[in-house]
Amino acid sequence: MTKQNLIDEAINIRNKAYVPYSKFQVGAALLTKSGKIYTGCNIENAAYPVSCCAERVAIFKAISEGETEFVEMAVAADTERPVPPCGSCRQVMSEFFTPDMEIHLTNLKKHVKSFSMESLLPFSFGNDDLMSK
Ligand code: THU
Repeated sequence: MTKQNLIDEAINIRNKAYVPYSKFQVGAALLTKSGKIYTGCNIENAAYPVSCCAERVAIFKAISEGETEFVEMAVAADTERPVPPCGSCRQVMSEFFTPDMEIHLTNLKKHVKSFSMESLLPFSFGNDDLMSK
């Protein structure tokens, strides 16, 4: 499994996006330590805030199947620059990804920017803060 394979999976799963409102297709692919890939696309709803981003769909699919250890993630959309994940997704990523885990952001022009979890969401709120009261 190469970084390029993971990016291709993220690009392909965009075709499954349910986006009647934004028409903005996003795909995500998450590689586990066990070598499995969990993909996700964004799924919107007529009640807009109920929609879920591609990244969270992929992460929740993996977690719900008992996966806990992740190696890297790729996210793809048809954007000018490599697509930046929203703040909510960064917070969910930080719950499950190690600070040094890489997230590859891409667009359809094959521009890729890779970020560590830590650099994508520095000084993030987490379990340690919750427990340190
Ligand atoms: N979206 C994602 O799925 N991931 C991102 O990283 C950015 C935004 C979705 C949410 C919504 O369905 C659409 O893109 C427009 O915001």
